[in-house]
Amino acid sequence: MSRTDEGSKVYVAGHRGLVGSAILRRLQAEGYRNLVTRSRAEVDLTDQAAVDRFFAQEQPEYVFLAAAKVGGILANSTAPADFIRDNLLIQTHVIDAAYRRGVKKLLFLGSSCIYPKHAPQPMKEEYLLTGPLEPTNEPYAVAKSAGIKMCQAYRQQYGFDAISLMPTNLYGPGDNFDLETSHVLPALLRKFHESKVSGSPSVVIWGTGTPRREFLHVDDLADACLFLLQQPDQVLRTVAPDGMLNVGVGKDIAIHELARLIQDITGSSSELLFDSSKPDGTPRKLLDVSRIRSMGWSAKISLREGLQKTYQWFCESHS
Ligand SMILES: NC(=O)c1ccc[n+]([C@@H]2O[C@H](COP(=O)([O-])OP(=O)(O)OC[C@H]3O[C@@H](n4cnc5c(N)ncnc54)[C@H](OP(=O)(O)O)[C@@H]3O)[C@@H](O)[C@H]2O)c1
Repeated sequence: MSRTDEGSKVYVAGHRGLVGSAILRRLQAEGYRNLVTRSRAEVDLTDQAAVDRFFAQEQPEYVFLAAAKVGGILANSTAPADFIRDNLLIQTHVIDAAYRRGVKKLLFLGSSCIYPKHAPQPMKEEYLLTGPLEPTNEPYAVAKSAGIKMCQAYRQQYGFDAISLMPTNLYGPGDNFDLETSHVLPALLRKFHESKVSGSPSVVIWGTGTPRREFLHVDDLADACLFLLQQPDQVLRTVAPDGMLNVGVGKDIAIHELARLIQDITGSSSELLFDSSKPDGTPRKLLDVSRIRSMGWSAKISLREGLQKTYQWFCESHS
């Protein structure tokens, strides 16, 4: 693969989402000036004919596939058919069109939910398809696993340079702060912020606070994406023969520690109340990041710094 330069034509699919917008910001900051984007209203990626027309017209050289139907437990359990169908369609159309139109490299955004519910910790790339999945988002995880397998098969049969990234839990500007549908970190930021504003005496946190989770700032993920874009294919084939790379910080934190950190950052003096009648979920979820580390990449944004930046963004955009 030839290395990219500022004139390379790069398509970011899903450029208005948390991940896609971070990749786009980073490409722009690096001086890339030939960037291609389309919203869902312009090109619906579940529509094969529309995807084919778009690739024929634009002929991008590099593709970041960060478009997906994404949601929390509630959305996944009420609309499992939409999650499996839309994701299978989006990734099938984009990966296939990219290959047929001569794209030089494609990076597919997978998810750590593809690993078995009871996978040993930290989770290695080779644990894909080695055990039952978390039932609440199984249709979504099955679609994502099929996307990874499709990238592997296109590499094997056609020599197509398609790789899959499995990011850990992400956070950052553009995150979803809706308490009905958000993940734990933005939900805590919002709850502590609102408790400070309203002077409420306590903040209730679901579960015992003991589960451990890993959090990566989305700008670090964008940094990893650009790093991998520049890696020669031979290096990737040596480090990741199956084309899979976990992207995380390699360190987890207990939810109660995260809550105290967020309390400190937001300046809330509310008491923390743990509602142990609510489920805790898996005790620990941590990615093994040895592969990407061996290539020379590691996360740079500390959790405190990332939370401070995210809280600032939240205050500015939700004022
Ligand atoms: N967020 C996380 O913590 C996390 C963690 C690990 C992996 N990931 C992975 O990262 C990827 C992106 O996630 P995200 O959090 O950035 O999601 P997001 O914020 O919901 O963004 C998804 C993007 O996909 C686009 N999209 C959805 N359906 C489409 C369609 N039919 N046609 C065209 N575009 C469509 C949306 O476009 P519009 O804005 O135009 O509707 C949106 O820009 C996903 O594959 C996800 O599995 C995310």
